[in-house]
Amino acid sequence: MLRRRCLKLSFVIVFSMTTGFSLFLHRLEISEETAPLPLEHYCKNLHDKFLAMKQLKSAQNATKFFMEQLLHRTDLRSSCNASGKLFLTRNNTKLGQRITYEVDRKAFKLVDKMVYDMLPETHPWGTSRGLGRCAVVGNGGTLRNSKCGAEINSADFVIRHNLAPMNYSSDVGVKTNLVTVNPSQITESFQGLCHARRPFVEKAASHGDAHLAIAAFSYGPNTEISFRIFYTMRDMRPQQGVLYFHPDYLMTLDRYWRKKGLKCIRLSSGFMLMSAALELCEKVDLYGFWPFALDLFEKSLPNHYYDNIPAKRGVHTMPEEFMLLLEMHSQGVLQLHIGECQTPS
Ligand SMILES: *[C@@H]1O[C@H](CO)[C@@H](O)[C@H](O)[C@H]1NC(C)=O
Ligand SMILES: *[C@@H]1O[C@H](CO)[C@@H](O)[C@H](O)[C@H]1NC(C)=O
Ligand SMILES: *[C@@H]1O[C@H](CO)[C@@H](O)[C@H](O)[C@H]1NC(C)=O
Ligand SMILES: *[C@@H]1O[C@H](CO)[C@@H](O)[C@H](O)[C@H]1NC(C)=O
Repeated sequence: MLRRRCLKLSFVIVFSMTTGFSLFLHRLEISEETAPLPLEHYCKNLHDKFLAMKQLKSAQNATKFFMEQLLHRTDLRSSCNASGKLFLTRNNTKLGQRITYEVDRKAFKLVDKMVYDMLPETHPWGTSRGLGRCAVVGNGGTLRNSKCGAEINSADFVIRHNLAPMNYSSDVGVKTNLVTVNPSQITESFQGLCHARRPFVEKAASHGDAHLAIAAFSYGPNTEISFRIFYTMRDMRPQQGVLYFHPDYLMTLDRYWRKKGLKCIRLSSGFMLMSAALELCEKVDLYGFWPFALDLFEKSLPNHYYDNIPAKRGVHTMPEEFMLLLEMHSQGVLQLHIGECQTPS
């Protein structure tokens, strides 16, 4: 069964990676062996097969790195320091200093009293590092009908993305501790918060008292809209705090993964928070991270668990990020959950 699944897995991945793989597919052998071996075993084989594939050179570079130097949380901690720098706080920011933008490193924002007053004293987790078992929930169509809700709810800390809809509780759960907000979705769905603010506040409230996390200082135009989110929440729903990603943290993280061979224009927010979770949590479980159009049984999947609207092209390279996740999964650094969750009997 597992073997079958992983062959399917390899098929789907290969299938999704365009052109020229028919030879590779023919070489996949299906043995009669029935003894169940861990999925990881097959994914390791899969990984070795990937290494032989010319078309995946850049991913090959990335995976090779991990063969030579295992990813250690300490490595991320000393390089990126999510526990002290994930968000701008009064603890890591001084009144009067300049914040350099993540992408446009020539642009900066002065931390005047107005900005400083928006910052929380410290990170929501204070000085403690252990957030316990964290569930990082992506928005992939693989979550649809997954029945993962209960498992996700049982995590100590749940991270979600782009104010994902919460009306699929049996598949995605109900608990959220941190949810990202993409400034572009405020422009597209909430008129930039220039008019009615209640629809946005209600959307945020569907995540309970979760903090909202925004990349306010990545691109110049994000800043103003992020401030509007801050004031909207402060005035209408103060129990739900707004946090700004530290642009230095995001920049360091980007460099960190580039050095490890990941080639992309910009890391996806899922990948960013997966990295932060590796530093902050004792155990990291990923749900809804599956960038392919087919599931393990070759059934087609919607783009998100809540709709089938295609993602913007050319910004994120999900399959490449996924290769790294698969690699870390096979090393036991994190746990990927694809498809249905086991229902506890
Ligand atoms: C692999 O990485 C090295 C160093 O980063 C680079 O010079 C080389 O071009 C990469 N190979 C491919 C095929 O991308
Ligand atoms: C992480 O950041 C905090 C707060 O800025 C600092 O106290 C700590 O020394 C940093 N840790 C590392 C490993 O750089
Ligand atoms: C951050 O705050 C904690 C407790 O409030 C304090 O112990 C620590 O020294 C502060 N770190 C910095 C870099 O100011
Ligand atoms: C969730 O809400 C959306 C928008 O209101 C709706 O289109 C969708 O059918 C709902 N899904 C479920 C499972 O309730």
